[in-house]
Amino acid sequence: MAKQILIVEDDPIMRLGMEHFLRSRGYEIMTCTDGKEAIELIDKMSFDIIISDLKMPYYDGFEVLKRAKSVQPHAYFIIITAYADIKDAVEAIRQGAFDYIAKPFSNEELLIAIEKCLHFQKLENEISQLKETLKEKVVFENIIGVSPQMQQVFKQISSVAVTDAPVLIQGQSGTGKELVANAIHNLSKRADKILVKINCAAIPENLFESELFGYERGAFTGATKTKIGKIEYAHEGTIFFDEIGDIPLFLQPKLLRLLEDHSITRLGDNREIKVDIRMIYATSKNLKDLVSKGLFREDLFYRINIVPITLPPLKERTEDIPYLVDYFLRQFCKKFNKPNLKISPHAFDVLMSYSYPGNVRELKHAIERAVILAQSDTINVQDLPQEMRITGNIEASCMSEHIPLEQSIKCFEKQKIIIALRETGGKKIEAAKLLGISRKVLWSKIKEYGIDEFFSLSQQLEED
Ligand SMILES: Nc1ncnc2c1ncn2[C@@H]1O[C@H](COP(=O)(O)OP(=O)(O)OP(=O)(O)O)[C@@H](O)[C@H]1O
Ligand SMILES: [Mg+2]
Repeated sequence: MAKQILIVEDDPIMRLGMEHFLRSRGYEIMTCTDGKEAIELIDKMSFDIIISDLKMPYYDGFEVLKRAKSVQPHAYFIIITAYADIKDAVEAIRQGAFDYIAKPFSNEELLIAIEKCLHFQKLENEISQLKETLKEKVVFENIIGVSPQMQQVFKQISSVAVTDAPVLIQGQSGTGKELVANAIHNLSKRADKILVKINCAAIPENLFESELFGYERGAFTGATKTKIGKIEYAHEGTIFFDEIGDIPLFLQPKLLRLLEDHSITRLGDNREIKVDIRMIYATSKNLKDLVSKGLFREDLFYRINIVPITLPPLKERTEDIPYLVDYFLRQFCKKFNKPNLKISPHAFDVLMSYSYPGNVRELKHAIERAVILAQSDTINVQDLPQEMRITGNIEASCMSEHIPLEQSIKCFEKQKIIIALRETGGKKIEAAKLLGISRKVLWSKIKEYGIDEFFSLSQQLEED
């Protein structure tokens, strides 16, 4: 498409000359004779380039520039000026004009100035396209991730979403399994249909069957009317079985049948009901282990494990942390109306070096809390949760030659305990196991070293 140029010039000879020349070069030209007319046109039409004289009746070139900057910030502005007024041209550039040409100028000079603008325009477009692609790479369906592992997950989601294949999402708690399930549904052909979520860890065992498969009137005492189950409810849509490892063994054959025949039967009925659903499963447990313990059927495991997607723990993809921090910071600054909150370099170091047993969820909560607590326009280390704050070069401080051996050993022991507690999110039993000592010994050492004073563990320790 031809580039649109507006010429604002009160001298008719110059105006006509430029118009004629540029038209002959294939540009689409509009002209006007003063600033007032130019402003009216700028309000109505969009231009790639505006070429304007500075000194004109009514509104001068500065007024035109000001208006153009506010209504068409992407248009390039070229000032025409007399040699005597170069100072004004410099001022115009300071106010956002792209370039100036001094009178008298040749057609060649005019053309060079225009081509320079168009070259810049092209570069700017390329940059913004690159930024868009980069953004797509950082965030995919509300999931942030630049690490190779997450990029791989994004690819897997894209390719599996369009099929109707069952998907098994594996990963520790807080790694984003539910986000992935949402993404698969949203990118599938069932996106405008329902996504039914079932948390298998939250349904009491005796209610499982009726919740999932529904029941006929009279199926059991209290079944006064027929009720359809969640699976039937998901007909034509997607069903997400969260924590599938917690599904009781006795129901697993029914799930296998659902997978193989796409059919179910309601409790108290033996009619077969066909359902059209896409199935997504998630687990934070190791299903293979459950299979070997006899808690999960092997045939069901193989049937749902056809397309596995595994989300790595956050500590294995630290390059995602800065992007997650930025994302959550924006989100919570907006929510709590604290714009422009920054993170201090020290607080950022702490966030980068923590091990995140609770994965992304833990990071998200830490940022939310920090945004609420921040007293100034900066999030400092003390705004972060206690368990994150203990950092530092541990070995170096304990190995100093100025410290006597016994003290050095104690220092080392204390640091080891702190690390173990941090790794386990303050859980004493797990930390003791990690250290190879009894819970009692750990407790006495925590007291001896006064770790609970700054680690705020007391409450969690009582709970253990
Ligand atoms: N990569 C990510 N980008 C943005 N937010 C994320 C990401 N991963 C997780 N979150 C956020 O962290 C929280 C936990 O995620 P989600 O509920 O999907 O985890 P989960 O693996 O299902 O955890 P659980 O096993 O405990 O159910 C959510 O608030 C989610 O929005
Ligand atoms: Mg979940």
